[in-house]
Amino acid sequence: MYTQALDIHPQLATPLVATEDAHKQTHFEETINHEGKIEPRDWMPAHYRKTLVRQISQHAHSEIVGMLPEGNWISRAPSLKRKAILIAKVQDEAGHGLYLYSAAETLGTSRDQMLEALHTGRAKYSSIFNYPTLTWADVGVIGWLVDGAAIMNQIPLCRCSYGPYARAMVRICKEESFHQRQGFESLMVMMQGTPEQQAMVQDAVNRWWWKCLAMFGPPDSDSPNSEQSKRWGIKRISNDDLRQSFIDATVPQAKVLGVSLPDPDLKWNEERQHHDYGAIDWDEFWATVNGKGPCNKERLATRVKAWEDGAWVREAALVHANKQKARQSKEAA
Ligand code: 3HC
Repeated sequence: MYTQALDIHPQLATPLVATEDAHKQTHFEETINHEGKIEPRDWMPAHYRKTLVRQISQHAHSEIVGMLPEGNWISRAPSLKRKAILIAKVQDEAGHGLYLYSAAETLGTSRDQMLEALHTGRAKYSSIFNYPTLTWADVGVIGWLVDGAAIMNQIPLCRCSYGPYARAMVRICKEESFHQRQGFESLMVMMQGTPEQQAMVQDAVNRWWWKCLAMFGPPDSDSPNSEQSKRWGIKRISNDDLRQSFIDATVPQAKVLGVSLPDPDLKWNEERQHHDYGAIDWDEFWATVNGKGPCNKERLATRVKAWEDGAWVREAALVHANKQKARQSKEAA
């Protein structure tokens, strides 16, 4: 195959290749510095590609596993209206997973490879989906707090330097914002109901609050990927800053709802113009991330079963596609 290297003396090859790489590297960095987008066919450093596959695939897995805690409540929703909303929301999460797997595939990793990593427990997904949904109020609180935290983290990803991820995030964020509102509205209705309903909401808030704060990831001082991801324009805002923005935005919402947030240290700090808050249990977070949360085994087992049960659909689709391709080639011949 023709390459420029064939035309030059072997001793000169290394410096020329190195110069070409340096040009590509400079172009890549200039694109990032000028807020341009890196597209699938553009040159990119191997570590940039690897970081994106890591983050986007973890994100895709989170969307797909995230269908499970709420999916448990579809058959027990208290009214037809709530059931229809919940089905639509869970279906949206499946769609988000598909956009994200597609975005990750543009980086050269197949969906089968990503799913294999999930099913064998090698891939991470968000800690938050390893907790049980004990009552109907949990569904509302997931919408309000979990999706609220997800939006806070994901809006800056719409400006990610990698084009396919950024474009997927624009659509995902629009849908997530509906998810958050429906959760808040559902809780509002319960808070105007009986004392038992109000207690159910408060109990769900107490159980989910700290888990949502941990969702943003480890403190900046303990986040090995943040610095480089920020330099590359993948991550725009740090874990701690996003966590702080979420707390500041949520405190007034909790007041409107009439619930308290389970943190005695939570108070407005006039000097910082932010809320101070108590210590997050990072040991519990890491245990959950590393497979020892209350529902990790159940979540993975459900995903693996869904994958195995769907094998015949994938096989049938493949056979159909191959038949169509063969017919098209025959017609074209
Ligand atoms: N759960 C599980 N693992 C987590 C985590 C969490 N909440 N937070 C961080 N981690 C992991 C990281 O993946 C990383 O692991 P790795 O190096 O082995 O891949 C490690 O902990 C160290 O964390 P870092 O802060 O260094 O990692 P990142 O720079 O990647 O930041 C992140 C973590 C903020 C989650 C970032 O990856 C991100 O913004 N991801 C995209 C958004 C996302 O995946 N959200 C998940 C929730 S999606 C969702 O909620 C669906 C919605 O429908 C509700």
